[in-house]
Amino acid sequence: MSFKSIAIDGPAGAGKSTLARKLAEKLGYLYVDTGAIYRTVALKALWEKADPGDPAQVAPLLEGLELHMGYENGEQKMYLEGEDVSAAIRRHKVSGAASQISAIPEVRAFLLDFQRKLAREGNVVMDGRDIGTVVLPGADVKIFLTAAPEARARRRLRELEQRGEPADFDAILRDIRDRDWQDEHRPIAPLRQAADAVLLDTTDLDLGLSVSRLLALVKEKMAQ
Ligand code: DC
Repeated sequence: MSFKSIAIDGPAGAGKSTLARKLAEKLGYLYVDTGAIYRTVALKALWEKADPGDPAQVAPLLEGLELHMGYENGEQKMYLEGEDVSAAIRRHKVSGAASQISAIPEVRAFLLDFQRKLAREGNVVMDGRDIGTVVLPGADVKIFLTAAPEARARRRLRELEQRGEPADFDAILRDIRDRDWQDEHRPIAPLRQAADAVLLDTTDLDLGLSVSRLLALVKEKMAQ
């Protein structure tokens, strides 16, 4: 039996995880947030006080790495050495480290198998940076989701304010631009739109409209 896969790629803060989760819910597919997997490897590097930018320090950590993914009430959970690290991987420090470790070829090769295996086992909506280009080049539908950096920074600011965390718009915007640059300029699997991906720009769309556009796009592609 062959399973269906939908690849959603795009820069940080474009709303990939919210939209991919909603899409998966509507279709009854499993939602896989691949950024969370990279973040978990980054957390391991931080735990071991390794420099996340140094392949010589990070690559040896992959051997015997106890990394697991599971679902609890429909939510994806990440486990590192048996510990639920789903909240810890969202910390700001881990975001920066994840961006660094994701440029290391050994890390990408290691996670490639991990991700492909998930898509072999069921219908998935997978979000990341290189799902349509590298991980699942044969995905049934590929979406490249983006939004202007300022729009992404505004959304992030709102999110942090709602959580009661103090934040500064300029600092967030700088951070988003830095991460875009790192993700787009790494030599392997850089962030880019696959030739056969459909572009969805949500700069001027609210969440409701983004979801309906995405659903319409997916239905249209699936029907072809
Ligand atoms: O989507 P995110 O912010 O949780 O991703 C964390 C980091 O992992 C981000 O800097 C890019 C990297 N990443 C990647 O290189 N490839 C993926 N498929 C997913 C994430």
